[in-house]
Amino acid sequence: MTIDENWIEAAISAQERAYVPYSSFSVGACLVTNEDELILAGNIENASYGLSNCAERTAFFKAISEGKYNFKALIISGETEEPISPCGACRQVMVEFCSSDMPVILIGKNRVRKETTVGELLPYAFSKKDLN
Ligand code: THU
Repeated sequence: MTIDENWIEAAISAQERAYVPYSSFSVGACLVTNEDELILAGNIENASYGLSNCAERTAFFKAISEGKYNFKALIISGETEEPISPCGACRQVMVEFCSSDMPVILIGKNRVRKETTVGELLPYAFSKKDLN
């Protein structure tokens, strides 16, 4: 799939949506629907630190709560030297709603970029298929 550069720019600008008074570490996510809608989100922290919600999960929960279930790409942007690496909880949420070959584009500082997939990020995942 061709990655639209506008998706990358949208993920970077979504860092401005982050609420990060505790870590000052802003992350932006751009979740692209099959209809080319861009769902933008930042991470949302809490004084009770463990309740903080990553940008990626914020984007999925925002989309799902609006009845949008079909996605074709996820772009994540953060201020890491290497392309940002999404946490385990977010990888599990990706598995719930995306095909294993869906592209995930990771952007770090200075726009350093890595292209991977949901399946590469969480191999041998537990998922709904295991509940049958
Ligand atoms: N964070 C994300 O939003 N996404 C990631 O991929 C990694 C970590 C957030 C959680 C917390 O608000 C801050 O970054 C520092 O861990």
